[in-house]
Amino acid sequence: MNKIVLTAVMAFALGTGAAQAASNVPTPAAQKWGFSGIVGHFDQPTLRRGFQIYREVCSGCHGLRLVAYRNLKDLGFTGDEVKEIAAEHEVFAGPDEEGEVLVEGDLRMRPARPTDKFVNPFANEEAARSSNVGALPPDLSLMAKARKKGPDYLYALLTGYHEEPPEGFELSDGMYYNDYFPGHQVAMAPPLADEMVEYEDGTPATLTQHARDVVTFLAWTASPELQDRKRMGIKTLLFLLVLTGMMYALKRKIWSDLH
Ligand code: HEC
Repeated sequence: MNKIVLTAVMAFALGTGAAQAASNVPTPAAQKWGFSGIVGHFDQPTLRRGFQIYREVCSGCHGLRLVAYRNLKDLGFTGDEVKEIAAEHEVFAGPDEEGEVLVEGDLRMRPARPTDKFVNPFANEEAARSSNVGALPPDLSLMAKARKKGPDYLYALLTGYHEEPPEGFELSDGMYYNDYFPGHQVAMAPPLADEMVEYEDGTPATLTQHARDVVTFLAWTASPELQDRKRMGIKTLLFLLVLTGMMYALKRKIWSDLH
């Protein structure tokens, strides 16, 4: 019996060892994130810079299908600004009164509204793959949660490119060498570099700053309810405060009757 257990444990250990050796990527270094921990919160200027990078760089290839334009109000955009951002994109308008879905051979489209979800840069998966050497740029809405040590991994990935692969590494055509991507070959060209975008708030535009900002934005898209939960907490506290006041008044009333 013990022998069987031991063999099973050994096989498991060997198996996981082999899997790790196959992906052969270092553990991403732990970063300090303002949004983690009990008192963690999303810093609005950081989120806005992160959104700027998503908008100017990543949105060329990656969608955010779970985020609506109106969610950007959390980043401090006004209703009108959100409307403008949404209206830069088009969505399918649906059929007209006669059930027609085409105008002059093209799908009927309308500008996106604040209630619409972020519009995907590609019409479908096939179009996305054919523009990216067959690889699919994944939706980024939940990416910060989908990967182990999500934010640390995303930061490591975005800053982990090398111009040349190490000696002896066979890099396929159209692929890029990255320290942290499983297998080290990734179909995404390095999306960030120094001076990739010019920040509206004058923050120095370095690769690492860009990476921190966009990762913070992606942590927010993966858990925008974090803000809601905190707001809920404050409401609960206020409610308890009011309730305490009422109980105190009630207590005084009852006792004054007794005197
Ligand atoms: C030119 C297109 C393009 C742009 C621009 C781009 N990506 Fe990608 N991205 C891809 C493709 C293609 C893949 C899939 C790579 C693969 O499977 O080899 C990918 C994969 C990813 C992944 C998944 C990695 C994993 O572990 O699977 C993340 C995260 C990511 N991109 C983040 C970003 C961010 C953040 C930006 C903006 C700073 C960005 N990308 C800009 C094309 C792009």
